[in-house]
Amino acid sequence: MCTLLLTLVLLSLRSGLAQSSTQEAYIIQYFERRIHQLEERLITCEQNSLRLDQKINDVSAEVRSRLAGLGMHRTEMATWVESVAMRVERVERDVEYLESKIPNQPHVEVQEALIEQQIAEAQKQKVKFTIGTDCSTVLTSVKSLKIVKKADDIYGSWLKDPTKGSSKIYVFTGNKNDTLLEFQSLKGVAEERATQVNKIQLPFPWQGTGHTVYDGFVYYHKADTTNQILKVHLRNRTVNDSTLLPGAGRLPVYALTTHTFLDLAVDELGLWVIYADPESRNAESAFMICGTLYVVYNSRHGGRSSVECLYDIHDAVRSLESPMLFFPKRYTSHYSLHYHPKDKLLYGWDDGYQTIYKLDLKSL
Ligand SMILES: *[C@@H]1O[C@H](CO)[C@@H](O)[C@H](O)[C@H]1NC(C)=O
Ligand SMILES: *[C@@H]1O[C@H](CO)[C@@H](O)[C@H](O)[C@H]1NC(C)=O
Ligand SMILES: *[C@@H]1O[C@H](CO)[C@@H](O)[C@H](O)[C@H]1NC(C)=O
Repeated sequence: MCTLLLTLVLLSLRSGLAQSSTQEAYIIQYFERRIHQLEERLITCEQNSLRLDQKINDVSAEVRSRLAGLGMHRTEMATWVESVAMRVERVERDVEYLESKIPNQPHVEVQEALIEQQIAEAQKQKVKFTIGTDCSTVLTSVKSLKIVKKADDIYGSWLKDPTKGSSKIYVFTGNKNDTLLEFQSLKGVAEERATQVNKIQLPFPWQGTGHTVYDGFVYYHKADTTNQILKVHLRNRTVNDSTLLPGAGRLPVYALTTHTFLDLAVDELGLWVIYADPESRNAESAFMICGTLYVVYNSRHGGRSSVECLYDIHDAVRSLESPMLFFPKRYTSHYSLHYHPKDKLLYGWDDGYQTIYKLDLKSL
């Protein structure tokens, strides 16, 4: 087993995928899972309805205390949680009914119909909250690679805007600069025609290779600060928001990529900041897929990069199912890796080569 010394923090900047909705989505997912478990147990409730009742009471109390402590950002979310609480109460009543009337076999079919109805109701409401739902994939292999171009600088970062429908590519050359390049498409990067490039000068320079772009904003570690992250509007070129991450940024995130102190990552669930607690052994980069952190290791002399250490916020990926994965081919070292959730591709800066990796993912 590897010793993982990275910490994940959800960035509290408001965006299409902001912290609040992601956390709420987890809570909803959590409750849904719990309730589905309970409902399944209801079907076979002839076994032990007393214990089940106790468990439902627990969940019900949890829902209520969460409701009190949440400080909802969206009223619709509050309504949703309320309806979850209502469902729990309904199930509770059903259990009570079953306990008193039918402690043994009979009316299970009736109960099933009721459960189906409840699930159908839940499905209807679920549509509103797509973030975080249906996200239970794991990486099974890094399949192939395609080298798109070679830059002058061995350090850098490039990525495709993960916003729906965008084909724009952003290139950040070097560890510290204030000018990034925006290309209309991947083709533009390969051909490097001057007409297809938009030079964007940021109000403050960046530090490292951990930047990300989402929905018209670039998020990056402001140079010469320990842990300040800026959100800059790409058209306006003005700072839209900024945040400090106390405790972060004192060490390089990855031992082999020493200029990067904060690494930002976008996945299906939201925007993340990856930073090191104590320095992590021979890590060169990392990326997030579906709430799971994949850490990429190499040797100091460069070698075949491997994906070794997983940290899964949902506990969905069991360590047994996560054998060591290797990158297909390498140049020297990955100074940045950015995952594109829709295309299931990794954009790597491999010792100056802009490389795209195709990923194989498996649904759990
Ligand atoms: C910043 O980037 C621009 C464009 O890539 C480049 O021309 C310039 O030399 C860089 N500046 C520094 C200080 O590296
Ligand atoms: C763009 O700049 C204007 C002021 O120049 C500001 O009012 C507006 O909120 C900015 N938009 C974004 C998205 O930051
Ligand atoms: C930030 O961007 C949002 C639009 O996404 C805009 O409404 C807001 O005014 C901007 N804030 C600042 C300080 O520019």
